[in-house]
Amino acid sequence: MVAARKKSLSKKSAAKPAKRVAKLKGLTPAQAYKDLIAYWKRLATFGSVGSLLGWDQRTYMPSGASSHRAEQLALMSGMYHEMATSPHVKDLIAAAGELPAAKKEDTVEAVNVREIRREYGMATKLPQTLVEELSRATSRAYDVWVEARKQNDFNTFKSHLETIVGLTRKRADALGWKASRYDALLDEYEPGATKAEIEQIFAPLRTELAQLVGEIVSSGRQPDPKILNADYPAAAQEKFCKEAAAQIGFDFNCGRLDTTTHPFCSGVGVGDTRLTTRYNPHDFSGALFGTLHEAGHGIYDQGLEAKHYGSPMGNSVSLGIHESQSRMWENFVGRSLAFWKYFYPKLRETFPQALSGVGLDALYFAINKSQPSFIRVESDEATYNLHIILRFELESALIEGSLKAADVPGEWNARFKKLFGLEVPDNRRGCLQDVHWSGGGIGYFPTYTLGNLYAAQLFEQARKDLGDLDGQFSAGEFQPLKGWLNQKVHHQGMRFRSNKLCEKVTGKPLDHKYLMRHLRKKFGGLYGFSA
Ligand code: CO
Repeated sequence: MVAARKKSLSKKSAAKPAKRVAKLKGLTPAQAYKDLIAYWKRLATFGSVGSLLGWDQRTYMPSGASSHRAEQLALMSGMYHEMATSPHVKDLIAAAGELPAAKKEDTVEAVNVREIRREYGMATKLPQTLVEELSRATSRAYDVWVEARKQNDFNTFKSHLETIVGLTRKRADALGWKASRYDALLDEYEPGATKAEIEQIFAPLRTELAQLVGEIVSSGRQPDPKILNADYPAAAQEKFCKEAAAQIGFDFNCGRLDTTTHPFCSGVGVGDTRLTTRYNPHDFSGALFGTLHEAGHGIYDQGLEAKHYGSPMGNSVSLGIHESQSRMWENFVGRSLAFWKYFYPKLRETFPQALSGVGLDALYFAINKSQPSFIRVESDEATYNLHIILRFELESALIEGSLKAADVPGEWNARFKKLFGLEVPDNRRGCLQDVHWSGGGIGYFPTYTLGNLYAAQLFEQARKDLGDLDGQFSAGEFQPLKGWLNQKVHHQGMRFRSNKLCEKVTGKPLDHKYLMRHLRKKFGGLYGFSA
């Protein structure tokens, strides 16, 4: 039905090209640019209604509403796609591109035209039939994956993975690529990034991380496990999480914190950013660091300039840069000793029983425990990126055709053993653990590690620019860092691609040494080896 509607639409527009051009005739480049931005803002506002429906679906919606909600969301996304691919946009882009300011480098106008052209290009390059085929394949695969993971049965999932990889290869071909098919997929999440560039950074990172993890393991040290296995009432956790998020600069007049199963942040629109978390009554750390992580995403969304809302200048750069903001507040700030110098007395006031007799250093060690483990989402700052590198290597090989879906478990387990020194006991704790591939999200994983890398490099620069960050954190002062991020990153919108933004702010292209320096210093201190 959707296909028929699309077809009749394109026929209609194809039959009346003269009228379209005539409509645009007499339109100055300045007017075309104005119309284009207004159109894109309307589109963003329309899309934000869908975000709100999605947020509600994952927080408060009664379960009985799920099929009606699916209808609502499908209708919204169909209408969104139709608006985003209207031939009218193509004409406006062409006319607006003639604006002198749009021909200069990195001006507001140039950035907006450049990015709208890119988005429009991506939306129109994909044949509708392929989009629908992929959407059907992934919604079937998702259900199969849920069950396969539960039953620890890769065989039932195998053919679905094969289908998805096949369709995703077609998708990459439709989008276009030069050196690697995988580049086309990466580009959707991290504009401009390439497999070759990522490999170059991941290769030394992989070696140095494996060495670091080896040193942690052979130290024989571990924190007291009782600290994060005590009574932490959820209501008190929630209050603490809200206070911490507000203290680091998340604005609750323009946002909320609610409970969900798989936490996320939804930047609905100007003045409306929604955070979510979940509470474990025996361990406060998941909810708190989850909140700081999502608040980091939220502070980015709240820091986008309202006057540019709906246009690329009011949008975030990429998933990698978005993740750099969440990881910075979660790990570089939230898991630092300086942060806890300020917050620990408050935490003890909140949970006097659970934390009686627990000193600051013991708590700091407990929240920075590192140990090789099977599940990515439960892993720590030191081991996390090895999980990502493994997935990056496998999914790029799948897309390039050097790895078959059937061989994924064997390859996963062999590589896991090499990286972590652990034997994967079953596929549930191996290649079936993540949702991404079942949803066609191939090319997404590297952005997590890019986020950590960008966070480390930006944070080191912030230290240079802002002086004694530790002294500020231990006094509860987070505004200098937040203000710095607002100015250097958030207010820039999509002006620069991620690697160029990194160079503009830090003077250097992305390099793994900043993250390694941070990790070796921190974990060397905790586990007693030299940084
Ligand atoms: Co995140």
